[in-house]
Amino acid sequence: MIEKIQRLLAEVENLKAQNAEELEALRIKYLSKKGEISALMNDFRSVPAEQKKELGMKLNELKTKVTNHINELKEQFAAQDTGTDDLDLTRTAYPIPLGTRHPLSIVKNEIIDIFSRMGFTLADGPEVEDDWHVFSAMNFAEDHPARDMQDTFFVEAHPDIILRTHTSSVQARVMDKQQPPIRVICPGRVYRNEAISARAHCFFHQVEALYIDENVSFSDLKQALLILAQELFGADTKIRLRPSYFPFTEPSAEMDISCFLCGGEGCSFCKGTGWVEILGCGMVDPNVLELNGIDSKKYSGWALGMGVERITNLKYQVKDLRMFSENDTRFLKEFESAN
Ligand code: DAH
Repeated sequence: MIEKIQRLLAEVENLKAQNAEELEALRIKYLSKKGEISALMNDFRSVPAEQKKELGMKLNELKTKVTNHINELKEQFAAQDTGTDDLDLTRTAYPIPLGTRHPLSIVKNEIIDIFSRMGFTLADGPEVEDDWHVFSAMNFAEDHPARDMQDTFFVEAHPDIILRTHTSSVQARVMDKQQPPIRVICPGRVYRNEAISARAHCFFHQVEALYIDENVSFSDLKQALLILAQELFGADTKIRLRPSYFPFTEPSAEMDISCFLCGGEGCSFCKGTGWVEILGCGMVDPNVLELNGIDSKKYSGWALGMGVERITNLKYQVKDLRMFSENDTRFLKEFESAN
């Protein structure tokens, strides 16, 4: 009996099967009720007691080896099966689900793109700022109401450190480091201490633009505004400037665009006026230039600042500001095609 086990052990090493039928034949030959191993088990019963231990071990070894070998062959076939029959190389790939860009990023990128085509580069500054860059360097008087607790978030332990209330602070940051010509845009988040509602939030986004060089005039500003408005809202868009006041510009203006819903006829969206307000702008106040180390006799410039939420609301008619920060995917998915 021991010779037979030895012979089978050697045989098992070289077992091969070309296909599933041959594999099944092997299984029947060795592992079925009428197979070689069953037969050996039967013989084992009549083996004298003193040989049982050694033979039993050998027999178990053989059984494990055959079972493992046959299972290995089976796995090989399983892997090959899907590799041959089910693979359709002509099928198009599954679509990869892409995320959507946030509507504010879409509009911000659009604004950056328009200005970069006019030669503006990006500038950045911190959201946690000091009073100097946000207010003093921007020509705000000591008692200007914008410094009030009601508008500004203060860092408690440091009354001089605040969350910036506008991106105009980046103007001062740029002038700290650079002499004219300056041509920058500064997109960023700003904070104001406001009760959250459909029309106001404690944080929002602005894009600031600053252009300083020799002989920069109001007509340069006007042309840049017209290009911006027509690129954002369409070639038929008209602009109008209304006198306004900002501490950092003189003269200052507010820009309206002709209502893109009624084309200027007057509708409920523009409250019958035919115009919608877009942004604030003006010629950089000479005080701002001097405060930031730039010779106001030699240089002049213009600046503008706009709310990204405001422009996005106008472009996409979003009625509630809170939608922008709620991360409701049903809202965000609506901007899939605008990516
Ligand atoms: N900083 C102003 C605001 O937050 C916006 C602004 C107006 C910026 C006029 C400018 C500007 O640069 O020239 O309301």
